[in-house]
Amino acid sequence: MRQPRGPAGRCYLSLVNTTVPDPRLLGRAVRRIVYTKEQLAQRVHELGVEITGAYPDDELLVLGLLKGSFIFLSDLVREIGRPLQVDFLVASSYGDSTVSSGNVRLLYDPETELEGKHILLVEDIVDTGRTLSRLMDLLRARNPHSLEICALLHKHVATELRYPARFIGFDAPNEFLVGYGLDHAENFRHIPYIASLQ
Ligand code: IMP
Ligand code: MG
Repeated sequence: MRQPRGPAGRCYLSLVNTTVPDPRLLGRAVRRIVYTKEQLAQRVHELGVEITGAYPDDELLVLGLLKGSFIFLSDLVREIGRPLQVDFLVASSYGDSTVSSGNVRLLYDPETELEGKHILLVEDIVDTGRTLSRLMDLLRARNPHSLEICALLHKHVATELRYPARFIGFDAPNEFLVGYGLDHAENFRHIPYIASLQ
């Protein structure tokens, strides 16, 4: 059966079999849905299994980089079948106003001691890799037992990422993506799928 179609560029909730435009999108046009809710759940489950098997018996601290990782992290930790602790980082770039300078300041520093623990830094998406490289330098100076990156999405365009991500959800297209924690001007983080905006 042919899918009913609406005005060009409008995203319709065809996934739940309705022609009502998604009211969460503020009327914005969507190019395409890149990862459905079901694809995200399946991949996050697989990552959880992978992470569970990757760590020995020492302490594991899962550190979420806010705000973008908040939905991914909350789903991910529930798929990890071993003891762990959760904390967050809030980082802010400063310097040049239009281009990320790579200078990073911590607005919220984890309260948990990092020394001697396995640290898994959870990021929503790796783009240029600048933020992550600076953060990894800061965290490494605190003598963790190990320090690894888990990124839901990786655009593989990073020229400045000195630390490769050990766990990657998807190799993402080089488009601007929203949903599942990813925002555009603070909107669309709560959309349960990931879409590319026009
Ligand atoms: P990087 O320092 O250039 O790697 O920037 C990574 C950060 O930029 C991510 O944590 C996101 O907050 C944001 N970002 C990069 N690409 C996208 C995107 O496609 N959609 C939404 N946010 C993005
Ligand atoms: Mg953002």
